[in-house]
Amino acid sequence: MKFHFHDYHPVFEDLQTSVINGLSQSPKQLHPKFFYDEAGSQLFDHICDQVEYYVPDVERDIFESYADEMIACLGEDCHIIEPGAGSSKKIRFLLDRMNPAMYVPMDISAEHLRASAQGLSEDYPILPIHAICVDHTKPYELPTEIPTNKRVFFYPGSSLGNFDPLGAINFLQDLHNKAGEDGALLIGIDTKKPVDVLNRAYNDAAGSTAAFNLNLLKRIQNELDADVNIDGFYHQAFYNTDLGRIEMHLFSREKQSLRVNGKHFHFEAAESIHTENSYKYTVEEFQALAWEAGWKGDKLWQDDKQYFSVHFLKSR
Ligand code: AVJ
Repeated sequence: MKFHFHDYHPVFEDLQTSVINGLSQSPKQLHPKFFYDEAGSQLFDHICDQVEYYVPDVERDIFESYADEMIACLGEDCHIIEPGAGSSKKIRFLLDRMNPAMYVPMDISAEHLRASAQGLSEDYPILPIHAICVDHTKPYELPTEIPTNKRVFFYPGSSLGNFDPLGAINFLQDLHNKAGEDGALLIGIDTKKPVDVLNRAYNDAAGSTAAFNLNLLKRIQNELDADVNIDGFYHQAFYNTDLGRIEMHLFSREKQSLRVNGKHFHFEAAESIHTENSYKYTVEEFQALAWEAGWKGDKLWQDDKQYFSVHFLKSR
């Protein structure tokens, strides 16, 4: 039996509590982890198909160009651990080219994780897989079945961008502690680039990002005792140059209120709910951040335009 499922029963912070807290703050905000219900996960896949959203294409190009070098860094008998593995699509690229000793996908969504890890197990029958259902933003320990040596964390897609810089250091520090002395980290980080390219990537013409963002209001409407005029809001994302991040917002078209569980939240015209940050780092900025967290850069790969970076880091 090569497939194992470890359910840590993450207490997915109650949507209602989180929405009421977030809308009570000033400025109003919601946590981006609530994007990813089943519909939201599909909408994210649509975003990844948009030409403006360069992240998946450029990252894939880098992986294709430098696969041999990356695999040499990882080492054949490594134990690959992927936080937020989602549908485990990106790992297939590596698994088609190398034979790690173990693959450990982790995700908060149990059904999604079980299905994709089981599918992977059918396609790579000799690979030991330990899928772990866990909220990696909360403290947890890896199961004892995961060997403590040759651990490589795999964190592609620039998901680190959702943390603010301090949160990113804490997260990388936790990976460092779990990886151990001979551990490593292979991570994809989106870089700073011309503002119009960034703004287009998060305001695609087909409206995929808008639908993804507005899905949060749909969830509130469908899952909570709530009254939300979804058409009364529109999506807009913009690059905040001072803070080096894309900000996603839902702006109210007019003065209105939104009711959740008997509470009314008042919106002025053009007032927003801040729904996501996506931090962009220069190579130097990211390496400094990773250094703070106990890592040192070992290898770095980029595309010609330097729109994206893939870093291999070791314990320092
Ligand atoms: C999944 C967090 C990497 O920040 O680029 C894409 C999410 N939001 N378009 C990103 C996202 C809007 C994405 N991450």
